[in-house]
Amino acid sequence: MPTTINQQLSTKSKVGIIGAGAMGSGIAEVAATAGNEVVIYDTAVGSSDKFHQGLDKNLSRLVEKEKISRDKADSIKKNIHFVSHLDSFKECNLVIEAIVENLQVKQEIFEKIESIVTDDCILASNTSSLSITAIAASCLQPQRFVGIHFFNPATIMPLVEIIPGVDTDPQILVNARKIIDSWGKVTVVAKDTPGFIVNRIARPFYGEAIRIYEEGFADFATIDWAVKTYGGFKMGPFELMDFIGNDINYTVTETVYKEFWNDPRYKPSFTQKRMVEAKRLGRKSGKGYYDYSEGAIAPEPNKDEELGQHISWRILVMLINEAADALYLNIATRDDIDLAMTKGVNYPKGLLKWADEMGIQHCHDTMDRLYAEYHEDRYRASTQLRKMVREGKRFY
Ligand code: NAI
Repeated sequence: MPTTINQQLSTKSKVGIIGAGAMGSGIAEVAATAGNEVVIYDTAVGSSDKFHQGLDKNLSRLVEKEKISRDKADSIKKNIHFVSHLDSFKECNLVIEAIVENLQVKQEIFEKIESIVTDDCILASNTSSLSITAIAASCLQPQRFVGIHFFNPATIMPLVEIIPGVDTDPQILVNARKIIDSWGKVTVVAKDTPGFIVNRIARPFYGEAIRIYEEGFADFATIDWAVKTYGGFKMGPFELMDFIGNDINYTVTETVYKEFWNDPRYKPSFTQKRMVEAKRLGRKSGKGYYDYSEGAIAPEPNKDEELGQHISWRILVMLINEAADALYLNIATRDDIDLAMTKGVNYPKGLLKWADEMGIQHCHDTMDRLYAEYHEDRYRASTQLRKMVREGKRFY
């Protein structure tokens, strides 16, 4: 039996990162800032230069803003070694993979890694949509494998979802969580199901906003205005989709939809598909739902109070229903669900806490009204809400 189970990770542990893209470089910086020695590896030509330039830029900015000292920046740099061969991962105690989102490629890299590291090295993937269990299945010791899902940018977003696969040893989960906590992150535990917590529960924020637009109730600017004004969200759904990138946001929706065997609750939209086809990807391409070119005039929302409230409540109740359903299906605990949405995507309040404030009966009745109107399974109220209404219960 390998000794993995008893391994305690700490700032003395050596951390290996595979993939030096957006996520891998961020995770490397987080670990090195906490004092861990980090080795990072990427197959792309020029990735080492790109990584070092990016790190230098980030650290210089932090020094300029007096967030860290020059000495600290130097020590972070000294802690990270960009390596050209996976053999340099031999002494790693924890390896986090953040390469391309492809099951076969990820499985292949873990087969390789397992032949290099020692038996007590913990293996983790930062995948946002693949099954942890399926990646772990390529390992000889799947019990040492766990999902460690950071949010973008990893240096700034506090949330990390920790996901055990079917064979993950419970002690590995505890050990992995402990080291990520020690990096100053907020960890929540999620069941190995599509989208884990955040990417599942957040779907209606985008999907329902698009649906409201498609039905002709309001335009993008009005929906964004309503959700910010009456929901208290920092960004409206269309601004956020443009910020994330419509290609990325559409792919996540499509993946979650497929993985849930075409559950209509997660159905992608033609509106967003066409945006992607037209290369209107959002800020990064200069145009998405909005025009970001110089001199472009931002569209004015229709600031109708009744319309605004109606729109934002519809989206909010759909989000609450999704959060209630995740709780019902034991995807995470009540506290972790609320923590995940506030720390992972900056929601102004935990959705279950919000449900109590709005009234469980009101949330349930709104869902039933939508269902009565549309007769679509997309609007079915969660059994959790039904039960709570019957029993007169609150989440808190
Ligand atoms: P990215 O495209 O920025 O970086 C991926 C890097 O992996 C590239 O530098 C590429 O050269 C390298 N790579 C590809 N195959 C490799 C291999 N076989 N060996 C070594 N390096 C290899 O992608 P990003 O955004 O950093 O995503 C990485 C992972 O993190 C994916 O699984 C993604 O689903 C997940 N993720 C992404 C988030 C995001 O917002 N971008 C958020 C959370 C998770």
